[in-house]
Amino acid sequence: MDNKPALVFVGFMLIAIIVIVVYLIYTDPFRNMPQHTRNNHFQSPNREALILYSENCATCHGATGEGKDKCPPVRNTRLSEAQIQQLLRNGKGKMPSFSRLDSEQIINISRLVKQF
Ligand code: HEC
Repeated sequence: MDNKPALVFVGFMLIAIIVIVVYLIYTDPFRNMPQHTRNNHFQSPNREALILYSENCATCHGATGEGKDKCPPVRNTRLSEAQIQQLLRNGKGKMPSFSRLDSEQIINISRLVKQF
């Protein structure tokens, strides 16, 4: 009896699974977030806002709003949700405008920022 084709098949499947798992880990937008932040947001409706935040804001304000270099922290900001929405639409100083986002996205991001 020749089991070689079956072994080759199983080998390929194992490699495919490893490749998929590594891909999922490295493309996870929440990879650099602390565990408690992941737990708070991962399953919630904030998921889309969190992706938007990590794509558009985290480079300046840090993964959880802790601030970075010349950008102020957004965690515990004194601005209200409405003021944050206005800031996102208009920009301010070195902060670019995000008017290309639609108003639902802007509202969701401003809510998320107040929860950091
Ligand atoms: C290029 C860097 C940059 C990016 C990208 C950026 N910001 Fe900012 N942000 C700034 C700077 C600089 C300020 C300070 C602006 C000022 O007051 O002159 C600021 C201020 C803020 C403030 C006010 C903080 C406070 O308490 O005064 C909030 C809230 C904020 N940003 C949220 C966001 C969000 C949400 C995004 C993504 C949609 C974002 N920012 C993207 C640079 C950036």
